[in-house]
Amino acid sequence: MPSVYIKTYGCQMNERDSEAVAAQLVAKGYTLAGSEATADVILLNTCSVRDFAEQKALRKMENVAAEIRRHRPNTVLGFMGCMAQSRGGELIDRLPDVDLVVGTQKFHRTAEYLDDIMSGRRDKVVEVAEEAGSEAAIREHLLAGNSRKSVTAFVSIMQGCNQHCTFCIVPHTRGQERSRAIADITAECRELVSTGVKEITLLGQIVTSYGRRGFSRAGGTLGDKSPFVQLLEAVHEVEGLERIRFTSPHPKGYGDDLVEAYGRLPKLCESAHLPVQSGSDRVLKLMHRGYTRSRYLGIIEQLRRVHPRMGISTDIIVGFPGETEADFERTLSLAREVEFDQAYIFKYSQRRDTPAAGMPDQISREIREERNQRLLEVINGIAKRKYAAFAGSQVQILVEGPSKKNPARLMGRTRCNKIVLFEGSDRHRGQIMDVKITRAGSFTLYGDPAILNLDNLVEEERHETIRAVDKMR
Ligand code: SAH
Ligand code: F3S
Repeated sequence: MPSVYIKTYGCQMNERDSEAVAAQLVAKGYTLAGSEATADVILLNTCSVRDFAEQKALRKMENVAAEIRRHRPNTVLGFMGCMAQSRGGELIDRLPDVDLVVGTQKFHRTAEYLDDIMSGRRDKVVEVAEEAGSEAAIREHLLAGNSRKSVTAFVSIMQGCNQHCTFCIVPHTRGQERSRAIADITAECRELVSTGVKEITLLGQIVTSYGRRGFSRAGGTLGDKSPFVQLLEAVHEVEGLERIRFTSPHPKGYGDDLVEAYGRLPKLCESAHLPVQSGSDRVLKLMHRGYTRSRYLGIIEQLRRVHPRMGISTDIIVGFPGETEADFERTLSLAREVEFDQAYIFKYSQRRDTPAAGMPDQISREIREERNQRLLEVINGIAKRKYAAFAGSQVQILVEGPSKKNPARLMGRTRCNKIVLFEGSDRHRGQIMDVKITRAGSFTLYGDPAILNLDNLVEEERHETIRAVDKMR
C-alpha cells in the first residue's frame, strides 16, 4: 500500500484535520511516511489567515514538486485546508504538478480522491464544494491501540464561523457555523479516554457560538444555559477524563454561565484563550468584533474572581487599517492592564474578499513591524515576571511525554496551561503529579518532582516527631 506524508500549517483545527485524514488513510491500508522524501502521497494542509502562511506552503510545494519531477514522478501531490478552499483550481494552474486540491468540507473524501488519481480514473481532482454534515466527519483519531500513547487529544465540536470580523478570511474558507451533536462529541471523548487520553481540548473557530443554531437553551436554576455550557457539562460527565480545555471562545458570547462553569466543573482547567485583537473601541468597531474594551476587561475580572491564578492568553492584531498611534497605545495599555500570560501577536495582513482589505488608511509595513516589536516587548516583560513568580511554588501537571526540544526531559502542563519540563522517565507519561518549580525560562517552567517528595518527607518526619512528642506527653 502507498505511504502518505501530511505537513500541517496553521492552527489546531488544521492539526486535528490532518490527524483525522491520516487516520482515515491508515484505516484504508496506507502507511505513514516519516518524511516527504519517502512518501508516495504528499499532502500540505494549508492556512490562509495571513499571506505569510500561504506563501510558505506555496514555496514548499514548489520545492517538493521540483524534487519529485526529477526523481519520483509518480508521487501524488495535494493541497488541503484553507488555501485549498479559497484558491481551488487556481493552485493547479500555478503549480501543474499538483494532482489534488481538497476543500475544508471534503477532508473525509481524501482516500476516495487519491484512489481515483492512483487508479487513473481521474487525472486531477479539485473538490471544494460545500457538503452537508461534513462537521461530523472529522471524528477519526490515530488510535490503533493508541500506540503513541497520547495523553491529550483535540476534539472538533463545530466548523465554520458566522462572525465575519472584517479582517478574517476564516468564514470564507471554513463556511457557515455547523455544530456536531452533543451525543456524538461525548461518544468520541469516551472512546479517546478508553485508549488512555486524560485531557481533551474542544475545538472550534468560535466555540461560544456552539449549537446556536438548532439547540434549545436549557432552563432550570441557572437561568438560561448556553448550548456550549451544556456541552461542557456533558463532556465533564465522561468517566476517566481528568481535564477539559477549549479554544477559541469569542468575548461576545462569553456569558455568565460560562464564567460560572469554571467554578463549578472541576475538570475544566483554569486557563482561557480569549482573543481580544485590539484595546481600542474604535478599532474593535471597525473590526466588527461586537464588544468593547470595557466588556472584555469585565470578563477577565469575572474569570479572575472565580480563579485568581487563571492562565489567560490572547490574540492581538497590530496595524489594522486606520489604527492610529493613540489606538495602538490603547492596546499596549490593555496588555499591561490584563497582564496576559501569553499573547500571540499578528501583524495585520490584507486578505482577499474581506472588508478590511478595502478600507482606507492601510498601515505601512514599517509601522506594523514597529508596533509588533513594541507590543512584543510589553508582552514578554509581563510574561517573564509572571513565569518567574512560579519559582518555588508547587504545581500540578499532567505529563504528556518527552519534550520535543529535548527528548531526555519530560514535558507536562499545569492546569493554567504552562509548560513544565523535568527529569523523569517514560513511566511518568499520563500521570497527574505535583512538582516543585525550581526556575522559570521563557514561556517554560522547570520542575523537580524529587524535591517535592523530599519536602513532603521532611514535612512527614516533622509530623512524626510531633506525634512522637505528643505520645510522650
Ligand atoms: N476564532 C479563531 C480565529 C482564527 S484566526 C480562533 O481563535 O480559533 C487566528 C488569529 O489570527 C485571530 O485571532 C487573529 O488575531 C489573527 N488573524 C486573523 N486574520 C488576520 C489577518 N487578516 N491579519 C492578521 N492576523 C489575523
Ligand atoms: Fe475569524 Fe472573527 Fe470568526 S477572527 S474565525 S471571523 S470570530
